[in-house]
This record gives sequence, C-alpha cells and structure tokens, in this order.
Amino acid sequence: MSNKTFYMTDLEKLEVGEAPMPKVGPDDVMIKVQSVGVCGSDLHYYHTGSIGNFIVKPPFILGHEAAGIIEEVGENVKNLKPGDRVCMEPGVPCMKCEECLTGHYNLCKDVKFWATPPYDGVLSEHISHPAAFTFKIPDNMSFTEGALVEPLAIGLHACNTGNVKLGQTVVIVGAGCIGLVTLLAAKAYGATRIIVGDVLDKRLEKARELGAITVNTKDDDLVKKVMELTEGRGADVCIDCAGFSATVDACLSAAKPAGMVVIVGLGADRVDGFNTSMMSVKELTVKSIFRYRNLYPTAINAIADGRINVGAIVSHRFKFDDTIDAFATCHKDIRNVVKGVIEY
Ligand SMILES: NC(=O)c1ccc[n+]([C@@H]2O[C@H](COP(=O)([O-])OP(=O)(O)OC[C@H]3O[C@@H](n4cnc5c(N)ncnc54)[C@H](O)[C@@H]3O)[C@@H](O)[C@H]2O)c1
Ligand SMILES: [Zn+2]
Ligand SMILES: [Zn+2]
Repeated sequence: MSNKTFYMTDLEKLEVGEAPMPKVGPDDVMIKVQSVGVCGSDLHYYHTGSIGNFIVKPPFILGHEAAGIIEEVGENVKNLKPGDRVCMEPGVPCMKCEECLTGHYNLCKDVKFWATPPYDGVLSEHISHPAAFTFKIPDNMSFTEGALVEPLAIGLHACNTGNVKLGQTVVIVGAGCIGLVTLLAAKAYGATRIIVGDVLDKRLEKARELGAITVNTKDDDLVKKVMELTEGRGADVCIDCAGFSATVDACLSAAKPAGMVVIVGLGADRVDGFNTSMMSVKELTVKSIFRYRNLYPTAINAIADGRINVGAIVSHRFKFDDTIDAFATCHKDIRNVVKGVIEY
C-alpha cells in the first residue's frame, strides 16, 4: 500500500513523497485520514521553521487537526473497529509523570504531539495512533468537523478556565481560528454578549456572522467600546487569543472589577507594560491555558447535537493533492483566509 505524504523540505516549501506504512502496535489503530485543518502553528513552522525551542529538521510532516476512518486495529483494541469514523487527539502524554497522574496530562513534558518537532504530523494518507486518543464521531458529523474538534477543545478549555456563564459579557481579542472557536464555546456556555477585536476585516465579518459585536482595533478603541456597552463596568471575562502586549493589555483594561482574564495567545514571550497596579486595584483573576485535556467527548457531543457549528469558521477548502497550494494560500492570503482545511 502506498502512503502519499507531504513533507516540509525547507522554509515555505512542501514536497510530495511516500512515507512507509505506519506500524500498528497492540494498543493502536490505523486510520485513513480524511480531513486535516491548517493550523496557525503549522503556518508558523512553514514560514519560520520554529516555534520557541521547537525547531523543524526537514523533512518534516505538518498537520495535527485530523479525522478519518479506522482501517485496522491492534489486538488489544476493543472499543474501535475498521470502518469507524473518528477524530484524534494529537498529543499522546507519557501517563507516568506527576502531571499525567494528577490529571493535567496536557502539561506532560514528555508528550508526543503531532507536528511539534521532533514528532511528525499527519499530512499522509495513513497514520497510526493510540486507540485511547482516538474518538468515534457520529454519522451526522463531517470529517472536517471532526478535524476541528482539536481547536474547538482549546476554545472550550479557555471558557471553562474563565468560568464563562449564562448572561455574561465576554471579550475576545484576536479572531483567528482560536478566537473564533473561543467565541463559539463562549456562546455555547451561555455568554449573551461577546465582543471580538481584530485588525483583519474578513475575520471580524466571520465573528459577526457567529453572533459577536466586533471592533477593528486599527480604527477603534476596543476598551472604550466595551466600556460603552457595559455602562463603564467592563466585561465579566476577557480572553486574549492573539498573544501580544497590546492585546493582553486590552484584556486587563476591558475586564470589570473582580473580573477574569484568560491568556490563550502564545505570541509574546514577555508582555511589556503588564499593568499590575490596575490588576490589583480591580482584583482581577488572570489565568492561562495550554491546549486542553479531557474535552474531546464534550466537543464531539456539542457539534453532533448542533449546539456548536464549528464548520462555520472554515473559509477555504483544498483537496489533499493540492496541499502545497493550501499552505501557500493560507500563508500568503491572510486577509482572506479565515480557516483552511484539507479534505482527502
Ligand atoms: N494556549 C494554547 O494552548 C494555544 C493553542 C493554540 C494557539 N495558541 C495561540 O493562540 C493565538 C491565536 O492562534 P490562531 O491560530 O488563532 O492565530 P492567528 O494568527 O490566526 O490569529 C491571531 C489573530 O490576532 C489578530 N491580532 C493581531 N494583533 C492584534 C491586535 N493588536 N488587536 C487585535 N487583534 C490582533 C490577528 O489579526 C489574527 O487574526 C496564537 O498566539 C497561538 O500561538 C495558544
Ligand atoms: Zn491547531
Ligand atoms: Zn506525563
């Protein structure tokens, strides 16, 4: 059997090749991939070759948001069978360290996460994965919705961490994929007013389509708008999904007294001008998140039930054979691409 695969061979360069067929261990399943989302992190590796200390050594396989069909199961696997439609949690933790054993498996230092060097991603025809991190999706859910369970889990974790509740006002800064799934999650958790800031009109248009009030922070002052809308009190929860000093600062400023700020963005290693006195005077709670844990079943149920229309964030669909074009377009046409997916 052939296993067509797209390799990143240099900066902004992908080439098609053949990977060996993956081995299926006793606790693993083999999956025929059907859909892969193009994530901001894939595009960052594509463009710069690294994220922090994770450095791409070509040839490297990108892609970590994936869904497909089970082709084969290892001898110990009882809960999945060939033909099952599934999506996969891309990080496989060690399950031995203190973080894993205390339930924070997303913080495992030895996690093997797809498309995070040195671990390859999934832009192949066939991949193998532990059954424990492979989840059935129902027939009424598309493979692309299955692939988007991954980013949605981040949005759910952000809103859980921020304790987003019915009737609240939530501010989200950054309307990329992560900001938009956070908006969907906040709506599902009952937020009644969601204010989204970004600098790209297409993304703001999408946020409006999904029910948000939007502010283009190039032209207008987000904090002023939040204060106008909340009679000067500020928002219950502000979530940074951009990762810059200015966006974190906007979250701190837009939060109400005793409010909550959640930092999701990973752009800035250091935030300049972190206003600690404003934080103290308002007695804000500032939290952060890293990926997600135990949220795939929640995300799958919410999509299958129609409560979260995660497919609505997709703006561009590409065929697997056109993966090279998919990356070039998603990277270059940032003004128009909200979220790209590769469908096999
Ligand atoms: N904590 C985690 O586990 C986790 C997981 C995934 C992604 N992230 C991070 O979340 C952030 C968002 O990810 P993404 O994939 O959506 O990225 P993205 O680049 O697609 O989206 C970021 C958005 O922020 C907007 N932005 C930039 N400067 C702004 C400003 N001054 N005001 C308002 N908006 C501004 C951009 O226009 C863009 O639309 C990134 O920093 C990413 O690294 C964190
Ligand atoms: Zn992703
Ligand atoms: Zn561990």
